[in-house]
Amino acid sequence: MEKNIRTKVKDLLLQEPGQVVLAKGWVRTKRGNKGIAFIALNDGSTINNIQIVVDKTLFPEDLLPRITTGACIGVTGTLVESVGSGQAVEIQAREIEIYGECDPMRYPLQKKDTSFEYLRSVAHMRMRTNTFGAVLRIRNQMAFAIHEYFHGKGFVYLHTPLITASDAEGAGQMFHVTTMDLDNIPKNKKGQVDFTKDFFGKETSLTVSGQLEGELGATALGEIYTFGPTFRAENSNTPRHLAEFWMIEPEMAFYDINDNMDLAEDFIKHLVQYALDHCMDDIRFLNDRYDNELIDRLKGVISTDFVRLEYTEGIKILEQAVADGVQFEYPVSWGVDLQSEHERYLVEKHFGKPVILTGYPKDIKAFYMKQNEDGKTVRAMDVLFPKIGEIIGGSEREASLEKLENRIDELKMSRKNLEWYIDTRRFGSCPHSGFGLGFERLLLFVTGMTNIRDVIPFPRTPKNAEF
Ligand code: 4AD
Ligand code: MG
Repeated sequence: MEKNIRTKVKDLLLQEPGQVVLAKGWVRTKRGNKGIAFIALNDGSTINNIQIVVDKTLFPEDLLPRITTGACIGVTGTLVESVGSGQAVEIQAREIEIYGECDPMRYPLQKKDTSFEYLRSVAHMRMRTNTFGAVLRIRNQMAFAIHEYFHGKGFVYLHTPLITASDAEGAGQMFHVTTMDLDNIPKNKKGQVDFTKDFFGKETSLTVSGQLEGELGATALGEIYTFGPTFRAENSNTPRHLAEFWMIEPEMAFYDINDNMDLAEDFIKHLVQYALDHCMDDIRFLNDRYDNELIDRLKGVISTDFVRLEYTEGIKILEQAVADGVQFEYPVSWGVDLQSEHERYLVEKHFGKPVILTGYPKDIKAFYMKQNEDGKTVRAMDVLFPKIGEIIGGSEREASLEKLENRIDELKMSRKNLEWYIDTRRFGSCPHSGFGLGFERLLLFVTGMTNIRDVIPFPRTPKNAEF
């Protein structure tokens, strides 16, 4: 037996029988009888296992008992046609090396408790399950597809800072970044925290959005996108919120709100199509195991035009629904911020397809959005999806220096902190637009998982920052 280069299981399953191969991975199951053992081996490259057939007479007696579920092994053998494994090929083992045994008594992945909640507490075991393997492979493919999409369109990938001194969304949901001694915080004469003594000499936080810096990029390079971690200290313990999530934020010079909507719709359809084209094994597994409508939902989104609707019209529909007896937990009337239940009603019950809602009241949206002539609404756009609610938030940006400054003052935000941003409107201002796609919200949609904690390897939520 010669063969000392490992082939991944994904590739082995596509190879012609007859060759000598080396597979390495973790044992999923072992079964068999006196003379023969069947090992299902998985190496994470695919949801599928390769079956190892072991003729016990060829190996020392004490070897097989050491190969238990979870153990890590390397197997050299001949790839042969398979009749019973559910795959085209299997490996007839000739040499087996055990890299790491796995004590069955102490193995944390017992059949009795594999709830998603329990799995979150055993981070490395969690990744070895079929479900999280599938989710994490899809996550990886989606990240690649995002870069490919924008690269193909000539967008510049801009790295915006994670540490920032400005609150882009103005919502006050930021995590402080400091090196001050928390037991002995320096104070100024007025008794306030003296941030001049802090590392950066001013108050700093983790970013809630790369948008403001992104706008500097767009108004210089034309079209940019960011893709990075984003932090929000909002105390929302919901299946759709994380304290640390990833966001994709394209920002485009010369795009108005309609161009922005066109891009958002095309982008998201492209990503869903990419998932269907490149992740079908994993998606089919998730579809069959948890959510029989997943594949239909994905195909449905691609083949339909998203509804484009004014907020005011959306509110009318919701008010009519209430009049017709639909019960919402939160009240609806013009001016309220829509809750996920309202968004999902529009998408799932009323239209039966994704909705892009525009023209929101300015009072519930961020300071930078372009103001409409009515003085009440802004050129915001939220893309609402089945099962999720808001998946994208964006807008055309206020390009007028005067209007932008007035809005900042109205909201009692600090102009001084934002001078660097306001400058884009002072020197060669241009119409521009952008949006933010929540990466984990996209993954909720593509995988059909129902809790956002289960589409990120290490979720951070209120009272939880393990690993
Ligand atoms: O609607 P948001 O707050 O918009 C912005 O941050 C803009 N600066 C984006 C832009 O125009 N460049 O957030 C955008 C998206 C939401 O639609 C949602 O998908 C996701 O980010 N998101 C979250 N995802 C997970 N956990 C949270 N706590 C999230 N908050 C927002
Ligand atoms: Mg939003």
